[in-house]
Amino acid sequence: MKIAVLPGDGIGPEIMTQAIRVLDVLRAEGLDMEFVEAPLGGAGYDAYGHPYPEFTQKICREADAVLLGAVGGPQYDTLDRPLRPERGLLAIRKDLGLFANLRPAVLFPELANASTLKPEVVAGLDIMIVRELTGDVYFGQPRGMRVNENGEREGFNTMVYTEAEVRRIAHVAFGIAMKRQKKLCSVDKANVLETTEFWKEIVIDVAKEYPEVELSHMYVDNAAMQLIRNPKQFDVMVTGNIFGDILSDEASMLTGSIGMLASASLNESKKGLYEPSHGSAPDIAGKNLANPLATILSAAMMMRYTFNNEAAAVRIENAVKKVLAAGYRTGDIFEPGMTRVSCSEMGDQVVAAM
Ligand code: NAI
Ligand code: MG
Repeated sequence: MKIAVLPGDGIGPEIMTQAIRVLDVLRAEGLDMEFVEAPLGGAGYDAYGHPYPEFTQKICREADAVLLGAVGGPQYDTLDRPLRPERGLLAIRKDLGLFANLRPAVLFPELANASTLKPEVVAGLDIMIVRELTGDVYFGQPRGMRVNENGEREGFNTMVYTEAEVRRIAHVAFGIAMKRQKKLCSVDKANVLETTEFWKEIVIDVAKEYPEVELSHMYVDNAAMQLIRNPKQFDVMVTGNIFGDILSDEASMLTGSIGMLASASLNESKKGLYEPSHGSAPDIAGKNLANPLATILSAAMMMRYTFNNEAAAVRIENAVKKVLAAGYRTGDIFEPGMTRVSCSEMGDQVVAAM
C-alpha cells in the first residue's frame, strides 16, 4: 500500500505526524505500507512555486491513497489566485477524479455536550453523507453573467447530471449502506427541479441491484429540517454537489467539534484522498495545540474504503473512543474535569490505546 502523505500548511504537519504514528503501529505489526511525503498548498508554492507541483502530482498519481493535512495561511493571501494554496486542493481533486465525497458525522458519547443540540437528540449520532463532487450546478455549462433582452444584467448557472454520473455515485452510496445499517436516503428536489427528478429515477433503478438496502427519498428542504429535528433517523444519505455541500456542513456541526471530523473523496478505482474537514488553523499553528483526531479518523477511513481493511479501521476508531472515554481532550473539545493534552500527547494516548 503506497500512501502519499501531504502534510500541507499551518497545523497540517503537526496533525499529520500524529496520524502517521498511529499508522506506524499497524506497520510495525506487519501491515505493508509505504509513506511518500510531498508538499501541497503553500508548502508546494514554497518548494516548487506551485500549490500542486508536478513532483507532488507524480507521487499522488502513483499512490493507492493520499493522506492530507490542511492547506492555507495568511502569508499566501496576497498571491495571485491560481497560486493560492486552496487551488492546490481543487487541482488534486480534479487530477485524481475524486467524484465521491464521504463526510461522516459521528458524535462520540463523551462529547455530547459539544453539540448545540440537546444531548438526547444527538447522543449516538452516526450519519454518513455521500456527496457527488464533480457535477451539478458547480460545473454545468453555460454559466456566467450577461445582459438579457430587457437590458437587465443577470447571473446564471446550469444544473446538470448525466446518467453515468448519477449511477456511479449511487453505487458508492449503496455500497456504503451495505457496510452499515443498509438504510439509504436519497435527497432531491424532484418536485421542482427536473435534474433531481432524473436523479431520483436513476437512484431507484440502481436500487434494484441492492435489494437488501432500504431506500427512501426526501426533499432537500425537509432533509435540512429533519437533520436538526431528529438526525438519528438517518444512516447514509446521498445527494448532489450543491445539496451535499450544504447538508454535509450542517450534519457535521451536529457534533459541534471541528477537530473530530474526518472525510474521504473517492474515484472509480477506489483510490481515495483522506483529510480532516477543518482548515490549517493558523491561529494555533506551531503551538502543539491542534486536535489530531480528525486526521487520525481520516486514516481509519483510508483503511476502510481504499484498503478494504475493516479490522484496522475499527481498531483505530476504538482507540480514539478509548482515549476520549479516559478523559483526554485537546483545547477545542476541552471541558472542566477532563485532562487537557497537547497535539502530540493526544497522539501518545491513541498510540498507547492501539
Ligand atoms: P479552520 O478550520 O482552519 O479554523 C477554524 C477554527 O477552528 C480556528 O479557530 C481553528 O483554530 C479551529 N480548528 C480547526 N482545526 C482544528 C483542530 N484540528 N484542532 C483545534 N482547533 C481547530 O478554518 P479557517 O480559519 O476559516 O481557515 C484557515 C485557513 O485554512 C485558510 O487559509 C483556509 O483557506 C484554509 N482552509 C483549508 C481547508 C483544507 O485544507 N481542506 C479547509 C478549510 C479552510
Ligand atoms: Mg462547504
